Amino acid sequence: MAANNEDLFKNLVSHCKEYGFVFPSSEIYDGLSAVYDYGQYGSELKNNIRAYWWNSMTRLHENIVGIDAAIFMHPTTWKASGHVDAFNDPLIDNKDSKKRYRADVLIEEHVAKIEGKINKEVSKAKDRFGEAFNEEQFRSTNPRVLENQAKVDTINSRFKDAMDASDMSAVKQIIVDLEIVCPVSGTRNWTDVRQFNLMFSTQMGSVSEDASSLYLRPETAQGIFVNFLNVYKTGRMKVPFGIAQTGKAFRNEIVARQFIFRMREFEQMEMQYFVKPGTEMQWYEFWKTTRMKWHRSMGFSSDSYRFHDHIKLAHYANAACDIEFMFPFGFKELEGIHSRTDFDLKSHEAYSGKKLQYFDPELNESYVPYVVETSVGLDRMFLAVLSHSYCEEKLEDGSERVVLRIPSFLAPVKAAVLPLVKKDGLPEKAREIMAAIKADYLCQYDEKDSIGKRYRRQDAIGTPLCITVDHQTLEDGTVTIRHRDSMQQERVDAAKVSVIMYDLLRAPRID
Ligand code: GAP
Repeated sequence: MAANNEDLFKNLVSHCKEYGFVFPSSEIYDGLSAVYDYGQYGSELKNNIRAYWWNSMTRLHENIVGIDAAIFMHPTTWKASGHVDAFNDPLIDNKDSKKRYRADVLIEEHVAKIEGKINKEVSKAKDRFGEAFNEEQFRSTNPRVLENQAKVDTINSRFKDAMDASDMSAVKQIIVDLEIVCPVSGTRNWTDVRQFNLMFSTQMGSVSEDASSLYLRPETAQGIFVNFLNVYKTGRMKVPFGIAQTGKAFRNEIVARQFIFRMREFEQMEMQYFVKPGTEMQWYEFWKTTRMKWHRSMGFSSDSYRFHDHIKLAHYANAACDIEFMFPFGFKELEGIHSRTDFDLKSHEAYSGKKLQYFDPELNESYVPYVVETSVGLDRMFLAVLSHSYCEEKLEDGSERVVLRIPSFLAPVKAAVLPLVKKDGLPEKAREIMAAIKADYLCQYDEKDSIGKRYRRQDAIGTPLCITVDHQTLEDGTVTIRHRDSMQQERVDAAKVSVIMYDLLRAPRID
């Protein structure tokens, strides 16, 4: 059993490999850094998360349609989008450990430590004053809190100014002034900070002289922008309307850590919402609320999520925030919500020479719509679901089990059909039940080992229901249904199994 969150996370990573959820890529060659393959259960879970997102976007919003654009795009796309010039991370090396870091992350971690001190101070006071505690007043008057808050504000504003001015020596100076040390060598022997472009490039064309350089897309969003006109015209769309898509994105991340949290090849689920200029802040708030509701529909505790406003805005945004999730290694970005203005469409207009405008029949005029984007990483959603679901439990009889309490509608395998013994006609009966449900749900038939061992195997992959066929089934047509989380069993008519499954496995309704 894990003693702390760090152990729990390590156990989760091993569990993912042992039970066919996630494997290191090309493992027989010792793997490829920050690239992973999804196994037989992992790909089912990933498909289910993707489908839930897709249906929530396209079915629940009559004015959002989905597309599937190519990964390869004309190279000018990335010039127009600003990625060639501005999709950089500031990088710094420690000369002693030879370790490479993102300078912004070193500074953010330092800020997080100071914020941790503030929060400690607040929670100590909360315990001391009990009911009478007024947090707002305490934060605005306590000298130690004020002093630390002033430090945070100064660092954030220095950092923002340095990044806005692309002044990498000023970024380094912040690291020097804050006396940040390398976590590995413990020294302050830093190189200068350099900007590093995160796009991967490759060649298209068979003859080297004719070949042109292409980028692997670092975000799926541009496939939507370049198809704005196609979808608007062919779909007879009316502003406000959205275009959604899911697909692979590639980034040459400087520091790729924490399993599938930060990968070099990953999948995004993005939606661009085209709105009338001047209404974008209202839609930005709408999408913040709507997306938070979607995350909460998973049924995880509501304090697992929080919003985090961006201090340094991307080159295309006039407002941006993250929905952060409480991963085992702390609160981290799960989804970004960005008000992208008309930056992308205007820039594609300028580079392509094509008019990318919407004709508003009510105003009787054309304009370039503004865009509010929602962008969530599928792999991060996968990690959020698994890390919240992974549970090591000690049972009443002293034994232990590992159970994945995956929301039932997302579980890779929905039910296991288990004949109690491998004789007396029970396997045949179990096969009959399996045949009746397998077209609608991914199910497993398992007759090997004791029933207890079979339950444990299903718990470990998160199967919500085990349907057991025993001798009584042959007499009265009933089966037992065993529920994964409570381990409770109920005896039901076999004919009702599919109705029970429909009720238990339906996706939640989001109002
Ligand atoms: N189109 C906007 C955009 O790409 P982003 O904040 O850079 O915005 C959106 O990325 C989401 O994509 C993030 O919130 C995260 O869930 C996911 N993501 C970004 N980089 C990732 C990486 N290296 N590995 C896994 N997921 C990543």
